[in-house]
Amino acid sequence: MTKIISIINQKGGVGKTTTAINLGCSLAHANEKILLVDLDPQGNASTGLGIGIDDRKKTIYDLMITKDQNVHDYVHNTSIKNLDVIPSNVDLSGFETEVAEDGKRAFSLIDVITPIVKKNHYNYILIDCPPSLSLLTIMALVGSNSVLVPLQTEFFALEGLSQLVKTIDRVKQKLNTSLTMQGIILTMFDKRNKLCSEVEQEARKFFENEVYKTVIPRNIRISEAPSHGIPVILYDKNCSGTKAYEKLAMEIIEQEKQNNNFAA
Ligand SMILES: Nc1ncnc2c1ncn2[C@@H]1O[C@H](COP(=O)(O)OP(=O)(O)OP(=O)(O)O)[C@@H](O)[C@H]1O
Ligand SMILES: [Mg+2]
Repeated sequence: MTKIISIINQKGGVGKTTTAINLGCSLAHANEKILLVDLDPQGNASTGLGIGIDDRKKTIYDLMITKDQNVHDYVHNTSIKNLDVIPSNVDLSGFETEVAEDGKRAFSLIDVITPIVKKNHYNYILIDCPPSLSLLTIMALVGSNSVLVPLQTEFFALEGLSQLVKTIDRVKQKLNTSLTMQGIILTMFDKRNKLCSEVEQEARKFFENEVYKTVIPRNIRISEAPSHGIPVILYDKNCSGTKAYEKLAMEIIEQEKQNNNFAA
């Protein structure tokens, strides 16, 4: 079974792409087969995984526009075993207007992901979303089994979450009834900063066990790694960022084991 997880928060710069790349890589190291779908016109996940702009001839935009059955042509291997990516580039920013007349536009992503899921090759498909609740994010919600929300431990972190929860609920009611919350991952945590601990407490009080035990620390190595086109796990295997993403991967694998036992 392939589990499709969208990584969503309409707030910019909260760690969505960093989580997509490093969680993807940690899961891949744990022998899970991973496909990362870069659904952000910024293409940060593609760059962070070393796919240069000139190597992105066939992107998620092209795949959704052409509905090409040869999905394989759009899937790039990365330098990490078990981790593939469907890249994106700035073309994707025009997608919403181009399909504005299409009544089925919310299904554009699921239509191209379903043939991949049917092949049953991947354990997880992670979708890196842009910082908005626009069509691209709605398409991700429609095409996913669950939502992973990175929450930056800073003052305004919880603001806007109610809007996100409302959007998830609306999609659940109308377009994807089986959508669930995978969890909330606290990011860029600085233990010397009292505010970070306060935000953590507040998030745990409000969202209870939807918040992962693992917390991603603010770690300079995490922010350096993308400029080398590799996940932090390859850049510095002993830093606190690497350890945290490895721990998150283990927590998610365990969570999935329990979900599957429960379903059986
Ligand atoms: N734990 C961390 N420690 C230090 N820097 C981090 C950490 N997580 C992310 N960053 C840095 O913060 C910036 C924003 O992170 P990222 O690109 O992952 O956020 P995003 O939510 O995907 O942004 P956008 O909304 O623009 O897509 C990047 O420069 C990234 O390297
Ligand atoms: Mg991003």
